[in-house]
Amino acid sequence: MKYYLTTPIYYTNGTPHIGHAYCTIVADAIKRFKIMQGYDAVLTTGTDEHGVNVERSAQAAGKAPREFCDIVAGEWRRTWKMLGLGIDRFIRTSDPRHHETVRWLFERCRSNGYIYPGKYTGQYCIFDNLYVNDAKPGDPCPDCGRPTETVTEENYFFKLSQFRDRLIEFHEENPGFVQPETRRNEVLAFLKGELKDLSITRTSITWGIPAPVEGKHVIYVWFDALIAYLTAVRDQQAGGEPLWPADLHLIGKEIIRFHAVFWPAFLMAADLPLPKKIFAHGWLLFEEDKMSKSRGNIVRAEPIRQVVGADGLRYFLLREIVLGQDGSFSYDALIGRYNSDLANGLGNLASRTLSMIQQYRDGLVPPSSGAAISGLARETIRAVTLAWERFEFSKGLEAVWNLLSAVDKYIVQQAPWTLAKKADAHSQQQLDDTLYTAAEALRVATILLSPVLPESAAKIWTQLGMKEPLDSVKLKALDWGQLTPGQPVQNIGPVFPRIDLTEAVAKMRELEAQISAEQAALLGKKPSEQPKNAQPSETISIEDFGKVDMRVGVVLSAEPVKGADKLLHLKVDIAEPQPRTIVAGIAEAYQPEVLIGRKVVIVANLQPRKLRGITSEGMIVAASIEGQKPVLASFLEDIPTGARLK
Ligand code: MSP
Repeated sequence: MKYYLTTPIYYTNGTPHIGHAYCTIVADAIKRFKIMQGYDAVLTTGTDEHGVNVERSAQAAGKAPREFCDIVAGEWRRTWKMLGLGIDRFIRTSDPRHHETVRWLFERCRSNGYIYPGKYTGQYCIFDNLYVNDAKPGDPCPDCGRPTETVTEENYFFKLSQFRDRLIEFHEENPGFVQPETRRNEVLAFLKGELKDLSITRTSITWGIPAPVEGKHVIYVWFDALIAYLTAVRDQQAGGEPLWPADLHLIGKEIIRFHAVFWPAFLMAADLPLPKKIFAHGWLLFEEDKMSKSRGNIVRAEPIRQVVGADGLRYFLLREIVLGQDGSFSYDALIGRYNSDLANGLGNLASRTLSMIQQYRDGLVPPSSGAAISGLARETIRAVTLAWERFEFSKGLEAVWNLLSAVDKYIVQQAPWTLAKKADAHSQQQLDDTLYTAAEALRVATILLSPVLPESAAKIWTQLGMKEPLDSVKLKALDWGQLTPGQPVQNIGPVFPRIDLTEAVAKMRELEAQISAEQAALLGKKPSEQPKNAQPSETISIEDFGKVDMRVGVVLSAEPVKGADKLLHLKVDIAEPQPRTIVAGIAEAYQPEVLIGRKVVIVANLQPRKLRGITSEGMIVAASIEGQKPVLASFLEDIPTGARLK
């Protein structure tokens, strides 16, 4: 049986951050679970490359849209590969095959009478090239705040209004179509209001799919984008079945209307089957705000992968966040979860169990006559399967950890280290039972965890000496007692080495700063202009420059220094355990209170110096022009505290 699932296709006006990775990782985990249930699962993702915003980003980078999208789409593809995600097809909307599908669907809808030419009269922002629905003449643009203009444009319209009743009926008859419930209610409330026809072509833009009509019409980016789900699998089969309709569209909550109202209407208009389910997840927040490029608070996956592995990130996201709700990311919480659950929990149980089998039974799994833990293990298999079917990953993982901690307790109770010292048959039998039980529980847990921790589960699997490949194990065949006595186990080192919090966070921040600079260069961001009055100074080598440790800091407090008009006494956090004390000669240029919370650049490895009795542990960097007030170096983009300047 086939199972076709999709992630949204991502805009190429930006590069991936862990908010996007969240959706794609969840999709990958679902795919792996479905395969374990016996489905032929297919996962697609891709890039949404048309429209004004992408066109503008390309312009800003000084590149043609096509060239720009080639670079950015490459970044998305590379990120998913680097995270080891099982993407079967990657769709780019600039692909001619996709253009063909879009035109085909447009024509189907048109010949069924659902597309008509009309005049759009409404408010338009000339700065953002944006139609502002529901705005009245004179209203400001919601994006830039400048006044909108009333425009009239010849467009093609989709008769969305005609689908209102059918859509309401459909949603009412299929209560599981949109999940979670809150989103379904939102969709129904929207449908119960007035549903206006939708303008689906534009003449004001050029970077898009030409509509199969007279004149210079380009297809509206959402009509184009949704059809990518179809392009990905048109005429494709899995297990002898056509892949369309999709079994699951996994999306973020803010694009629910496009998926639960527009998309079904387009498909109905073209007489095509509707997808089976839409699940809208919440947002990943960072510093209490949605992680996004425009807010400048993004965290990328690569630095995290380098420190805790792709599985460490997967585990955090699936364990910490209830699918459908917003969740917060922080470096501390990430490392906390890694150390407590993976290094101390699963990793520790695996290494203890395997080393005891090495030590007490020459590395061979012993036979067992007991049944301890078997009931709980069977219960866990049921609970995890159910949780996963309901997309309750966090609950499923919790159930596995309950099993792991029960095994930990059982080992402590049995005290195999004491049993090993007793030669009598009963003690030896008990030792066999204990070791078998621990190893068998580990085997069961490894299978149940493999959709979330594919790389690490495979390592534990190998350590257990299992012959059958882990990815061919099917859930319905999983039962207690299938571990073969006599099987040799292997020792291939710790799967989750413990990580030092401070070091790990510093490393991730450093990598983040480095990668963000690399990506800016890759996207062709122009270097800033040279100040006119800068005199070239004597050249130094890169090694000389490398000796200066400059970091991003945030000002925690600022006070005047008694008896010194020019000095301020600052406390600056540069992501070290203690903030730095810095005495800076900037009092004439800045009021102390305006500095609090401001990001500044600190030279962190200057020899400490005493000024007015205060030891200054660094220097704050400012531009200084003869006869003028100093101006602090700062950043336009948000940048993590502690990042190094290179
Ligand atoms: N291109 C459209 C989707 C078209 S689908 C036919 C789009 N692209 S997007 O790049 O802006 O967003 C893609 C997905 O990433 C959305 O589902 C969005 O919710 C998700 N996320 C973007 N930032 C996110 C977080 N901070 N957290 C979780 N998901 C986030 O919309």
